[in-house]
Amino acid sequence: MRKLTTIPKLLLLLTFPVLTFAQNGPVRGTGNITSVSITGQKIEFTTENAHGELTVYSPNVISVRLDQKKLGKDFSYAVISSPVKTPVAISQNEQEIMVTTDSLKARITKKPYSIAFYTLDGQVISQDEKGLTTSWVESEVTTYKKMQEGERFVGLGEKTGNLDRKGSGYTNWNFDAYGYSTGQDPIYSTIPFYMGIHHGLNYGIFLDNTYQSDFNFGASNNRFSSFGAQGGEMNYYFIYHKRLADIITSYTALTGRMNLPPLWSLGYQQNRYTYYPETEVLRIAQTLREKKIPADGITLDIHYMDQYKLFTWDKSRFPNPLAMNKKLADMGFTTTVIVDPGIKVEKGYQAYESGLKENIFIKYPDSTNYSGQVWPGWCNFPDFTSEKGRSWWRNEVKFFASTGVSGIWNDMNEIATWGNKMPNNVLFNYDGAMASHKQAHNVYGLQMARSSYEGAKASMDNKRPFILTRAGYAGLQRYTAIWTGDNRPEEDHMLLGVRLINSLGLSGVPFAGMDIGGFIGTPSNSLFARWVQIGAFNPYFRNHAAVNTQSSEPWTHGEEVLEISRNYINLRYKLMPYLYAAFFEATQNGLPVMRTLAIDYTFDAKIFDTAFQNQYLFGKAFMVLPFESTKEFGNAYFPKGLWYDLYTDETQTGGTEKILRLSKNKLPVYVKESSIVPMQSLVQSTQEKPTDTLTVHVYKGALNNSFVYYEDDGQTFNYQKGDFYKRTITYDPAGRNIIFEQAEGSRKSKFGQLQLVFHGFSDADKITGTTAQLNNGQKVKESLNSFLTPISHFDPQGTANPVEGAKVKNLTLTHTAARFVIAY
Ligand code: NOJ
Repeated sequence: MRKLTTIPKLLLLLTFPVLTFAQNGPVRGTGNITSVSITGQKIEFTTENAHGELTVYSPNVISVRLDQKKLGKDFSYAVISSPVKTPVAISQNEQEIMVTTDSLKARITKKPYSIAFYTLDGQVISQDEKGLTTSWVESEVTTYKKMQEGERFVGLGEKTGNLDRKGSGYTNWNFDAYGYSTGQDPIYSTIPFYMGIHHGLNYGIFLDNTYQSDFNFGASNNRFSSFGAQGGEMNYYFIYHKRLADIITSYTALTGRMNLPPLWSLGYQQNRYTYYPETEVLRIAQTLREKKIPADGITLDIHYMDQYKLFTWDKSRFPNPLAMNKKLADMGFTTTVIVDPGIKVEKGYQAYESGLKENIFIKYPDSTNYSGQVWPGWCNFPDFTSEKGRSWWRNEVKFFASTGVSGIWNDMNEIATWGNKMPNNVLFNYDGAMASHKQAHNVYGLQMARSSYEGAKASMDNKRPFILTRAGYAGLQRYTAIWTGDNRPEEDHMLLGVRLINSLGLSGVPFAGMDIGGFIGTPSNSLFARWVQIGAFNPYFRNHAAVNTQSSEPWTHGEEVLEISRNYINLRYKLMPYLYAAFFEATQNGLPVMRTLAIDYTFDAKIFDTAFQNQYLFGKAFMVLPFESTKEFGNAYFPKGLWYDLYTDETQTGGTEKILRLSKNKLPVYVKESSIVPMQSLVQSTQEKPTDTLTVHVYKGALNNSFVYYEDDGQTFNYQKGDFYKRTITYDPAGRNIIFEQAEGSRKSKFGQLQLVFHGFSDADKITGTTAQLNNGQKVKESLNSFLTPISHFDPQGTANPVEGAKVKNLTLTHTAARFVIAY
């Protein structure tokens, strides 16, 4: 009898490959769809083993949820937007459900369940791997997507490895990765968002699940890419656009964008574990000024506290923090201090007592507070996943504003404890839902940064707070900048840092940095110099070094390195108008300040080559080529277009490789054709007023370009009430025009004069103004050619000498708000 029943099944298996399963041993599949209900933009369905839901969020974004139990309300710490009403056609028959928006199609096959996404003209963008689709191994849920031919993968936030993640697998579990190796995974932060690229198409997938998650981009298999988590539901967003940049914009529409940072946080930050006592802090600040190294920030590490107790100052080291911070402020410095989540368990200590009283600490299931050891010894930890915990922290954080501190640096918030093994039965409020450590771990850092941001904002009298975090989850950009933790003073680590920041940028986080010089140990002189040069082209620019290492101020590596550092920090300060505009753009569309070439040159295979993968754009104009400091020659790749050497204006046609001769005092940087780069005079901090002239560099080219120039007070939220100055500058090569549109906003520019510098234009380009607004009503005459002066504003040596080959014209105008056109 037995044989009779098994043989036909076996035969079936041999003739038809098994395309799915409802249950096979310990693996449980979805099985067939058994019922469907459609309401507006939402489809709910049940399968033999699961419950599913598909929601059209926008024409380009579709969310998919699947769980073995009935789906409840969707709760997320990452997603802040709701579905927008959009035209959708949904139909179904016996075999499938079809969904069509203005931008894409989704098709759900019913028997068994599987989903595929197509362009409107029917090309496959992404499809479930038939037979595997979504399944569970106990509580672990995974979705398998067919590996497309030639498919590449980018993103996933702060992840080590190559730009193209094909062939690798990654785990998300926020981890205190002291001195991590260049291939270590996981490290500090979790952003379960990546983008796939194949056949001239690209898409994004965001897995919104806070449990430990795993991504596989064809590691140990030749069949699929997959994403899954150890608990919770399968909950992902599928995003499709033609351009990778638009996918990032849609992803950040879901998870939010950064707020405008305070201008001082874009300046150079000097940091050390730890500057103390007060006289040492002031000496560092004073030396930066004496040595004419522009700087805005001083950061204090854990030794400012009394025995590492949060919300205290060590009175013997810092007898009067408010007065010290006032002195620093008078010198143009802003103070940032470190905070760790651990509150020392000590009777009579204010923060501990009030935390106990308010009952805000995370707990074991038997209601006793969880204790773990960190710097202060045994600590309890606030529950930032509860409104009560956040409110307690917001209140405590006021302490900093009251002592003249404006920046809050959130460290150790993975949570890191000695032993790195927090028990999984520790409970978190999870905004009413109650979660175990397994579910809450990856969002703890995000919620801490959020609480710090909200607390600082409430106590800083309309000033914009600056928050820095080590750990985080998707959406962290709404509250905080991030740095890449405890790196090492090694050439590879410097380049890895570039990729980490680039990957964070791909994943919605524009404000990121790394410890310049490397944290653990002392870099060689040349490595330090190269790292500062690269740091000048990083969004967050902070030099930091660990305790018991050589201190790492720019003067600690000799006169030559000091001069190189100063030149590049100077350049950063002169570029502040350009940089601020790049940050403004990030607040508007989520695009990063530091951009891997994968954003603009997605389908150029060369840029993924490991020889070129570290090249990036800084804002829209600069291509930075970060080579090891030990190299004499560097192999560069120029994507299509025309590129200007920043230092000489020499041009290089794209689609080419070139061997560059490298030198210690010069980081190779090229300017993209048609770029518009506003600059100001050198200042020693962002609090110093530059001269009255805004210099706008224009690089001749064949591309259309438009640049949104943006100013505001750089400090407050008044821009939200219209107190800004904004104007679009367009380069139109077909019309041979550079157009300054009418300025917007109620603010007057801080620059009364406008100097235009034309790069790559020849004597034959007769530059003229075409409106009456130029030069107080005087039309600019063709005799402008007499303004021709061979200068370079980017001489890395810092000399005023002309650089051969840099033939530029310049023209100075009164900076009026009205529209005007420069023709050539
Ligand atoms: C670990 C951080 O990653 C590092 O930057 C800091 O200096 C130390 N903690 C001490 O606070």
